Amino acid sequence: MNVVIVGIGRIGLVAACCLAKSGHRVVGVEADTNKLNFLNHRSKPIYEKGIPALLEQGLSSGKLTFVSSLPVSLKADIAMIAVNTPSSPDGKVDLSNVRTAVEQVREATRSPLVLVVKSTVPPGTGARLISDYLQGTPITYVANPEFLRAGQAIDDWYHPSRIVIGADNQQAVGKMLQLYSDIEAPVLVTDITSAEMIKHAANAFLSTKVSFINEIANLCQILGADIDDVIQGLGLDSRIGTAFLQPGAGYGGPCLPKDARALEFLASNKGYDFKLLKAAIEVNIRQRSLVVERLKQILGSLKGKEIALLGLAFKPNTDDVTEAPALGIANLLIAQGTRLRLYDPMAVESAKPLLPGKVVFTRDIYSAVSGACAIILATEWPEFTQADWNKIKKAMVEPCAIVDGRNALPKDKLIATGFKYVGVGR
Ligand SMILES: NC(=O)c1ccc[n+]([C@@H]2O[C@H](COP(=O)([O-])OP(=O)(O)OC[C@H]3O[C@@H](n4cnc5c(N)ncnc54)[C@H](O)[C@@H]3O)[C@@H](O)[C@H]2O)c1
Repeated sequence: MNVVIVGIGRIGLVAACCLAKSGHRVVGVEADTNKLNFLNHRSKPIYEKGIPALLEQGLSSGKLTFVSSLPVSLKADIAMIAVNTPSSPDGKVDLSNVRTAVEQVREATRSPLVLVVKSTVPPGTGARLISDYLQGTPITYVANPEFLRAGQAIDDWYHPSRIVIGADNQQAVGKMLQLYSDIEAPVLVTDITSAEMIKHAANAFLSTKVSFINEIANLCQILGADIDDVIQGLGLDSRIGTAFLQPGAGYGGPCLPKDARALEFLASNKGYDFKLLKAAIEVNIRQRSLVVERLKQILGSLKGKEIALLGLAFKPNTDDVTEAPALGIANLLIAQGTRLRLYDPMAVESAKPLLPGKVVFTRDIYSAVSGACAIILATEWPEFTQADWNKIKKAMVEPCAIVDGRNALPKDKLIATGFKYVGVGR
C-alpha cells in the first residue's frame, strides 16, 4: 500500500520504518528540518533499539523516503497522523498540530483516502475533526491509537497486545487490516470515540496502578513491612499481576502523565469529578518530593552538599526525559541548594536544555559519584544496578547515602558495603 505518515517523531519513525519493512511504500512528512536532515543522512534522531538497521534498510530499498511537506496532489491509500499532542499543566491537550495535519491532508487529497490518527487525542476529538474538516471530502477517518513502549518500540510494533481500530466505515476497516496483515494480534474494531477512550483508559489505569503501589510502599515504610514481599504476594493473584507494581519516584514519560491529566481535564470539563485519577496524579507528584525527604532524613540540611543523581531518562533503554521523575527531583534538590552531579547512559543531551546551567553533567557513573556524599537513583539502568559498588564507595565521602528511587539496587549488599541505604518501603 502507499502510506504517508505526517510527523516523524518516535511514533512516526517506528511506524514508517516498520511499515516499509512490511513492504509498503512509505513517505514520511516531517516539518522539523533538523530532524529531516538527520533522517535523510541515515542518522537516527532518537535512541531506540532496532531503528538504525530498519532506517538504513528502508532508505536503501527505496521503500522509505522523508520529505518536508505533503505533495500538492496526494495519491495514497492511507495518510497516518503521528504528530505530537502536548498538554498544558492543567491537562488541556493542544490539538493544533493534529488540526494542521488534518487540514494539510484534506487540502492535498484528490481521491479516496483513509486518514488514520495515531496521535493520542482526547475522546471525542475524531468526531470534532470530521465535522470541522472532513464533511463532503473523499476522506474516511480512522482512530488507531498506539500502545508501543519507548525502549521496546519495534518489538511492540510487531507483537502488540492489541490493534484498536475506531471506524464507522467497513471499507476503511478492511484497509487497516490490509495495512497490518503481517502482524498477529487481537484486533478490536470500535466506534471512533471508544477507540480514543481505550487509549486514555489504559494510561489512566496504569497511572493509578503505579500510584497505588507507591501508596502501599509508603505505608510499608511507616509500618515496617517489606514492599518486595508485598508485591510478590499481590502479584501471585492473577487478577492483579506484578506488571506496573514497581514503587519509586513515580511514573513519567511522554504518555502516562500527559494522558492521565488529559482524561481528568476532559472529565472535569464535562462536569464529572474523576476522584480516583485526580488522586493518582497527586500521588505521583508527591513521590518525587518523598525521595528528597528521605535524603534529608539521612543528611539533614542539603545546602551545599554534593549529590549524585543517577538516571535522567524516564525509564531505562530510552533517551526520552519527558516528565521524567529525575527532572522533578533535580529541581527540588537545586531549590534546596545542593551541588548536583548528573549522569545517564543515553539521556544527558536530552536533559541538558531542561536543567539550569549550574548542574554538572558527567561522562560516567564513577565521575558522577566522585566526592558526593549521597546518591539518588532515578532510573534503573543496568549500568547502575550492576555497578561496582566497592569502587563507588571509595570515590564518595561520608555518610555515603543512597536513596534508591526505583527499589532496584541490591539493598543488603549495599548496606554490607557500608552505604546508608534507603528505598521505598523496603
Ligand atoms: N512516544 C511514545 O512512546 C508514544 C506512545 C504512544 C502514543 N504516543 C502518541 O503519539 C503522538 C506522537 O508522539 P511522539 O512521541 O512520536 O511525538 P514527537 O514529538 O516525538 O514527534 C512528533 C513529530 O511531529 C512533527 N510534526 C508536528 N506537526 C507536523 C506537521 N504538521 N507536519 C509534519 N510534521 C509535524 C514534529 O516536528 C515531531 O517531529 C503523540 O500524540 C503521543 O501522545 C506516543
